Amino acid sequence: MKNIQFFDTSLRDGEQTPGVNFNTQEKVQVAKQLEKWGIDVIEAGFPISSQGDFEAVQAIARSLKQTAVTALARCNKKDIDRVAEALADAVYPQIHVFIATSPIHMEHKLHMNEQEVLASIKEHVSYAKTKFSQVQFSPEDATRTEKNFLVQAVQTAIDAGATIINIPDTVGYSNPTEFGALFRYLKENIPNFSEVTFSSHCHDDLGMASANALAAIENGATRVEGTVNGIGERAGNTALEEVALALYIRKDLYPYKSGIVLQETKRTSDLVSRLSGVAIPRNKAIIGANAYAHESGIHQDGVLKNPSTYEIITPSLVGVKTNALPLGKLSGRHAFVNRIEGMGYHLTENEVREAFKKFKDLADKKKQVTEEDLEALMTGQTNEA
Ligand code: KIV
Ligand code: ZN
Repeated sequence: MKNIQFFDTSLRDGEQTPGVNFNTQEKVQVAKQLEKWGIDVIEAGFPISSQGDFEAVQAIARSLKQTAVTALARCNKKDIDRVAEALADAVYPQIHVFIATSPIHMEHKLHMNEQEVLASIKEHVSYAKTKFSQVQFSPEDATRTEKNFLVQAVQTAIDAGATIINIPDTVGYSNPTEFGALFRYLKENIPNFSEVTFSSHCHDDLGMASANALAAIENGATRVEGTVNGIGERAGNTALEEVALALYIRKDLYPYKSGIVLQETKRTSDLVSRLSGVAIPRNKAIIGANAYAHESGIHQDGVLKNPSTYEIITPSLVGVKTNALPLGKLSGRHAFVNRIEGMGYHLTENEVREAFKKFKDLADKKKQVTEEDLEALMTGQTNEA
């Protein structure tokens, strides 16, 4: 079965989230947890950007023994030298070199024409190759790049020694049909496509980053880049936990394996949320507080009879202790009785009927009925405990 590599950029692209700033000790803590989670490659930072970032990348390189560590460089020899210095002690070093290839970036940001960009790719990927055996190249803003030029840029990088080609949807502009087709196009037009690793890097501006990553995988990508909890610039990156679970749960659609240790998912997510200060939305897929909570009576009844009626993921699979059946006005009798029995109340049929009516009256007035509410309700109802 084909292996899909997971590349985590929480410490580089994830740190580009407005308001997020990890210190070195926090970065090392996250990197160690990413290693436990089974991440294949950690992008530790952008060493040229500051002395602090350089030191953090160096500290990560020194503390990881199994996971490959990479860092970002523009097509600029000073950037590349700085990455080489920071990763000198890494057991498995890689480098990530990028330059923009879309007309809008070349004209307005780089002030370079196509020939100049191709020359820069050739010069800097070759230079990076003198220092690293694993060189990743990214044509920034690939999804807004003219396709023939994208092929030329990618081919130039491969000819100059790149072993990994990462295709970024930098502004989250693509959709799964288009992004999948782009990988197919590259496969058809790059003769040595299968000799290098193709990777996806998606942003979530239109809410399609994870779906786009999966479309890339279906069309030849064997590496996926993203972040924990989807943190990152603007609307964020592909949330790696979403891709990991999609690959695991939908083996029928995605017959691939990965090294992700699913049981470490919640712990990894909680750590990144705590250290980044970015709260996880309650309804966030896989790791949100509501992801394994069922409030309506019909769903609660189903879950109590057999969890798989409404749960496609067993909470313990991702390290969540248990599912939850919060009680509200839509909750049913089955969940109500289950909860009060859990609190030690064993009622007769008539007592249940009366208590349930009181519960419904209360639930109509409150967003959620708590255990304290139930306690008060039950002590007014019966002394059996
Ligand atoms: O989104 C992007 O294009 C990037 C590149 C540096 C790969 O983060
Ligand atoms: Zn990015």
